[in-house]
Amino acid sequence: MSRALVIDSSSRYVGSVTRALTQQFISTFEESNGESNLVYRDLAKSSVPHLSAEAIEGFFSPTPSLRAKRATVLSDLLLEEFLGADLICIGVPVYNFNLPSALKAYLDQIVRIGKTFQKQGDGRLQGLCSGKDILVLYSMGGMYKDTDMDFIKPYFKAITNFIGADRVDFVAIEGTSRAGFKLEDQLGESGELIQNYLAKRGKKENTLLSMLSE
Ligand SMILES: Cc1cc2nc3c(=O)[nH]c(=O)nc-3n(C[C@H](O)[C@H](O)[C@H](O)COP(=O)(O)O)c2cc1C
Repeated sequence: MSRALVIDSSSRYVGSVTRALTQQFISTFEESNGESNLVYRDLAKSSVPHLSAEAIEGFFSPTPSLRAKRATVLSDLLLEEFLGADLICIGVPVYNFNLPSALKAYLDQIVRIGKTFQKQGDGRLQGLCSGKDILVLYSMGGMYKDTDMDFIKPYFKAITNFIGADRVDFVAIEGTSRAGFKLEDQLGESGELIQNYLAKRGKKENTLLSMLSE
């Protein structure tokens, strides 16, 4: 049995491609793991604030002030959700070549010293998230998946590596702003990729997952 955290970050509801992808993930995941093993967070509804000076003090100070402690309450809650899952599925619409700021603000709250990474005796940083997999479901109006203009993949690879999660995989839908784009034409393939991912992950067939990682 797996425990998933699903995060949506599109500001759109009607016609959102990434929300359609996360819904495909949710229904496939729940078929084998049940509803109670999935936590859902919608960053367009519960917006996460940018890091404040107090929150940063709360993260890094060994003796934080009461104000600093209060400022990390939301981060504590988000971390409880994040650390409680072994599979984190994130819907990522490309905004101005990058991830939405709501999602960046979320990541700033959960990439936190002592929680998802730590400093070792020799000063080097070590990730604390082994046993977790990340699946990024992203969409873009243009056609530049895997080109130099695709900043989503390298960014999530860096974050995955930094927090020491086991692996990150990607499913992308491109060209969503192009004339003639029809979401229904894309959902067959994405649904199959997501089903394969979950089936193979369930069987721990890690080598077979590489088809999604490339
Ligand atoms: C504010 C904004 C910025 C965008 N910037 C880009 C971009 O830089 N490159 C691109 O290919 N598409 C861009 N798009 C198009 C979206 O990536 C595309 O519509 C995607 O499907 C959005 O995901 P969603 O359908 O889940 O909302 C942008 C869309 C919006 C609303």
